[in-house]
Amino acid sequence: MKKRKRKNSPPFNFPLAKGGKRGVGIFISLEGIEGTGKSTQARMLSEYLIKKRYETALTEEPGGTAISREIRKVLLSTKHDKMDYMAELLLYNAARIQHIKEKIVPELAKGKIVITDRFSDSTAAYQGYGRGISLRLIDSLDRIATGRMRPDLTILLDLDVETGLRRNKHINKVDRLELEDVRFHKKVREGFLKLAAKEPKRIKLVKASKSIAEIHREIVRIVEKVLE
Ligand code: TMP
Repeated sequence: MKKRKRKNSPPFNFPLAKGGKRGVGIFISLEGIEGTGKSTQARMLSEYLIKKRYETALTEEPGGTAISREIRKVLLSTKHDKMDYMAELLLYNAARIQHIKEKIVPELAKGKIVITDRFSDSTAAYQGYGRGISLRLIDSLDRIATGRMRPDLTILLDLDVETGLRRNKHINKVDRLELEDVRFHKKVREGFLKLAAKEPKRIKLVKASKSIAEIHREIVRIVEKVLE
């Protein structure tokens, strides 16, 4: 009997971004624990690139499309304290599939620089290192959800957990994951640092204890190298 070829392809085709000069756009993610100022930095980077006349799309996870935003509400509602960790993992992946298909790939295909506030490293850090779900399982699901699509560049904003959580309290930001204890967030931070150590070419570490302007300047320096 003829052996059937194992199909490893994702559920759809997308022009994988591989960095540098090419026909498709550039994919950048910002990552980090709570309170690092990621969203502010993502916005500032997008505004900077627009000023430099780059076509830019700013997006976020979980979110970026109507369906993914609905999934976000389910994931982050503080009412959902009974959510099983596996249900949580699958929902983050579901939101990501929709995000890639409806937003990231079409924008990259137009040649844009796509900046996303979080992507798959968050799943490895939060559901893997934080929740303790097997990284192998997370990786298999990631293969189904993204076809192992990775950003060309990931900026990891690193900050100590206490400062991050204090900052978020200050702006009254509360969601289901933020309600986890300090120990959980410490595991997530360590997870991010391990991911950065494994992929130093893609993941660039930026200390988030500096001022907003300094962090922005450092991010711009890193991004400009990729755009050269
Ligand atoms: P945000 O507050 O940065 O928008 O992120 C929403 C929350 O979702 C944050 O607590 C991190 C968490 N998260 C995961 O646990 N896994 C994921 O894959 C993603 C994208 C986010």
